[in-house]
Amino acid sequence: MSDNRIPVLDLSPEIESLWDELNAAFQSVLRSGQFIMGPAVRDFEAKIASYLGVKHAVGMNSGTDALVIGLRALGVQPGDEVITTPFSFFATAEAVSIIGATPVFVDIELDTFNLDVSQVAAAITPRTKAILPVHLYGHAADLDPLLALARQHGLRILEDVAQAFSGEYKGRKLGTIGDAAAFSFFPSKNLGAYGDAGLFATNDDGAASMARMLRVHGSLRKYHNEVVGYNSRLDTLQAAILNVKLPHVDEWSAGRRMAAARYNELLRDLPGIVTPCEKPYAHHVYHQYTVRVLDGRRDAVQAALDAAGVSTMIYYPVPIHRLPIYAGQGYHLPQAERAAAEALSLPIWPQITADVQQRVADALRAALE
Ligand SMILES: Cc1ncc(COP(=O)(O)O)c(C=O)c1O
Repeated sequence: MSDNRIPVLDLSPEIESLWDELNAAFQSVLRSGQFIMGPAVRDFEAKIASYLGVKHAVGMNSGTDALVIGLRALGVQPGDEVITTPFSFFATAEAVSIIGATPVFVDIELDTFNLDVSQVAAAITPRTKAILPVHLYGHAADLDPLLALARQHGLRILEDVAQAFSGEYKGRKLGTIGDAAAFSFFPSKNLGAYGDAGLFATNDDGAASMARMLRVHGSLRKYHNEVVGYNSRLDTLQAAILNVKLPHVDEWSAGRRMAAARYNELLRDLPGIVTPCEKPYAHHVYHQYTVRVLDGRRDAVQAALDAAGVSTMIYYPVPIHRLPIYAGQGYHLPQAERAAAEALSLPIWPQITADVQQRVADALRAALE
């Protein structure tokens, strides 16, 4: 591997620029000796609730647990159905299955890669309890039609905001519009910890209280366990890191948006690829800059880029309904299957330079020729 290989993500500029603050945050946790639910956790919950403009922010140890606990906190029970997208990370559907409910997959729209909301009504049955839209790659799912369906049929909406921290829908922060939301702070996310971390957010007092209970073994009062829960607290060291990073997230999102605008310009008239769209209702925060490579050439183009020293990723090569545990259910969702065959995510991070992007664009042009 050559030294000037371009990675898909480079966290070093952020770590370098915050080095002293991050070290001080680590040391303050070490000195405090309060490693479980220390003051940094409460501090982070307060700061992030205020950033998002939600009543309750409950730290969790991962985005996956925030989904599992979030579904249960909204009252989803074994045997219920939850409508969701087949084009996401497995954890979205996995969370539904973990609690004994059934994910019901509805196809996506190819331009945003998100749930095709016009197909959701037809998937509602008497067992449907909730809708779980994902704001994939940082682009909002179209929430208003889902909110209308939810009102009409008495359903709950849990937003999966793992990939879209600081993104917006019609001027409102993602994760504050449905009944509740699950966030991931996996290190590569737009707001990332340096280990696993997540968050459940809601304006619903009952759901917040249930989520707080579920994250500590089903107890609100120590040793007075009321339900079977989890050990899913947000780690104090991770909270301390997130406290250092949160004030920078808007500037980083702006950096990602600037990088996306540059790619749009560089790739504008490249035949054989489709660049990402940003719908009028969305403020895209480009967790990924994902193009579609047409004519069955995606894998060959990825291999050519790799040979040219440009790393890329495929999120996701197999749509969830085609993974072994759900494949037997016989879903055929053509747009999700097409997206899985065409999607290619290019290198992006907030501080990526115009030179690096030029090299990516040149390599992509050569790969397509
Ligand atoms: C859309 C989506 N949902 C859920 C998750 C799960 O989050 P975590 O890895 O923090 O458990 C992720 C990411 O990893 C994700 O991208």
